[in-house]
Amino acid sequence: MRRQTLLAAIAFVLASSAQAAAPDESPKPLDTPGLKPLGPEWLKTNPYRGDSLALKLGEKGFEIDCARCHGAGAVGGVPGMEKVPRLRLMDKDEAGDALYLSHTRNGYVESGVVKAPAFEGVLSQEAMWAIRTYLDSRYDGD
Ligand code: HEC
Repeated sequence: MRRQTLLAAIAFVLASSAQAAAPDESPKPLDTPGLKPLGPEWLKTNPYRGDSLALKLGEKGFEIDCARCHGAGAVGGVPGMEKVPRLRLMDKDEAGDALYLSHTRNGYVESGVVKAPAFEGVLSQEAMWAIRTYLDSRYDGD
């Protein structure tokens, strides 16, 4: 009996430390104080293009929600994530807004596996366009 209790205690400690060590990868909301509120209708193009506050908030949001797959600074190349697109090569400005918004809102599921999380319902429209503003500033295509 004693021995069993001890084993149960060890198993408990191991299980809780494994849980503590697992990174929290759930999508996180981003506060956007100071940005013009956009209302419930989804816009087709980025209303904050060139706005320095949007850029700053967007950088923060990107690092919190996107960098673990798309790489810090959006440079890509995260080990084990080689197939994740390099966002610096995505069309910038209005040419890329529709693709950006649909991917970010809906994510991407392949054979039942979530390869990219859907951020709709977690990130506000303001937060999504702030991140888009940051990505435009990182553009490195032709
Ligand atoms: C769990 C990993 C993961 C996270 C986190 C993630 N993405 Fe992605 N993203 C992917 C994958 C995988 C694809 C490719 C999906 C496909 O093949 O259509 C992708 C594709 C995209 C695309 C399309 C790019 C293109 O050129 O086709 C955009 C835009 C995008 N992600 C934006 C974001 C943004 C913004 C965030 C953070 C708010 C984010 N992603 C977070 C994995 C991720």
